[in-house]
Amino acid sequence: MNNTQLLPQVQAFLDKPHQLFIGGQWCAAADGGTFTVENPATTQVIAEVADAAEDDVNAAVAAARDTLDTEWKQVSPSERTRLMLRLADAIEAHAEELGQIITLENGKPYTNAQQGEVRITANIIRYFAGWPSKIEGSTIPVSPSSGEPMLNYTLREPVGVCALVVPWNFPLSMCAWKLGPALATGCASVLKPAEQTPLVAIRLVELIEACGFPAGTVNLITGFGAKAGAPLAAHPGVDKIAFTGSTQVGRLIAQAATGNMKKVSLELGGKSPNIILPDADIKRAAKGAADGIFYNQGQVCTAASRLYVHDSVLDQILDELSSHAAKHVVGPGLAADTTMGPLVSAAQHRTVSGYLERAANEGAELICGGQRPEGLETGHFLEPTVFLDASEQACIAREEIFGPVVTVMSWSDVDELVHRANNTPYGLAAGLWTNDLRQAHTIAAELKAGSVWVNCWNVVDPASPFGGYKQSGWGREMGKNVIDAYTETKSVFVSLAG
Ligand code: NAI
Ligand code: MG
Repeated sequence: MNNTQLLPQVQAFLDKPHQLFIGGQWCAAADGGTFTVENPATTQVIAEVADAAEDDVNAAVAAARDTLDTEWKQVSPSERTRLMLRLADAIEAHAEELGQIITLENGKPYTNAQQGEVRITANIIRYFAGWPSKIEGSTIPVSPSSGEPMLNYTLREPVGVCALVVPWNFPLSMCAWKLGPALATGCASVLKPAEQTPLVAIRLVELIEACGFPAGTVNLITGFGAKAGAPLAAHPGVDKIAFTGSTQVGRLIAQAATGNMKKVSLELGGKSPNIILPDADIKRAAKGAADGIFYNQGQVCTAASRLYVHDSVLDQILDELSSHAAKHVVGPGLAADTTMGPLVSAAQHRTVSGYLERAANEGAELICGGQRPEGLETGHFLEPTVFLDASEQACIAREEIFGPVVTVMSWSDVDELVHRANNTPYGLAAGLWTNDLRQAHTIAAELKAGSVWVNCWNVVDPASPFGGYKQSGWGREMGKNVIDAYTETKSVFVSLAG
């Protein structure tokens, strides 16, 4: 199977203690607790990591607050840019190492980790590195009723201490989605990676440390949601929380945040409709539909999990889609020929398998996949799976599965189609495949989703806003929109009366 050899520095990294990073110091959890990280391709334990609890969260928040008001505050915008560009370069210089760590703990194919996620992460940090010197207030022509001459201007200030709680599906780039704007705006952060994938976040924070950011600018708390994430969400010393993960936990975070009315941004689940019109380039649309659902083992918030195909091209699309599914080589992410790795954990494999069983009971037709691949008895592997003709009420047509499972449904009337596409509590992404300009723009305007992709899927750019309608989230990340989410705007009135 021509396995990629582990780099010696990756092996050395795995073997050493994995600690918390608080106020510029690596330290064990206050209660000495640890937990283990598993390789989802083998189920073997690969590392032991500090298991943070409330005391550690308190220390990390205090360290962030301390530097926010002192050292980090003294760093000029152009110096912030310089530090961030250094970080982007460091990420690229360690691309192979970071890529291997991602594959080891998340399972995704090494190429997707190293050439995909690591490169994207560097690009995100580099994009946000351009912002510090461009976060401007304005002067505003106000009209006081007193007639008093008045100067009014706005100042943009960092929102303060930010809690960054990230998931396991893109364990490195999700850190950058939040650290990028936090660093650019001069905020101090407490980063909490997912319990399944803390290792690449630890390695990232080592690189951050080496770049010379002041101690306390970025603090790292590894641990579980209830034990480490919940105290962060409730902490009165945290000014803002940025979260990516399940809608269920997003709701808990929003509730916990009300204590001190911290600012909240949430990037949550999805059940994104992908629509194929009769005039579409069938081969391109089918490839796009396959990539849209199977990429990252389907563990993507924007997974193209509902595929609406015009009934005149249904047979062709099903043929093409099944052949793309069949071409996937499912296996360990470090094997050179693998194109689909294992799911991240036994729990995720159980959840997705549960949907497969329910789909059968709810009368959907299995077109392909649905099994653990032969010869892969250990590890959380699953075949790419296509279902046809689920009712709109079926679980597989309504709920986020977060696995390589697509539900294909046909349509004939375009108005009804738009209604069906929007008939979901989610609104993260949607897509359509057509060469008809009028239809493309008309349907794009009708879809209730934060991202709409026409003849493409999963195009995300650090310069362009990303986020969800409805229960897919609050606020937008990326682009100039996210700068607002990490800054406060202060309006200053100065009387110029003599
Ligand atoms: P989750 O939402 O529980 O975990 C995401 C992050 O939140 C992790 O860092 C976790 O430790 C933390 N967390 C959990 N409970 C918390 C709490 N009470 N307070 C603060 N932080 C907390 O997601 P999980 O359980 O890993 O996956 C379950 C489902 O969530 C998946 O099947 C998928 O449907 C969805 N999901 C969506 C993601 C997205 O990109 N939108 C990413 C990961 C999961
Ligand atoms: Mg959970």
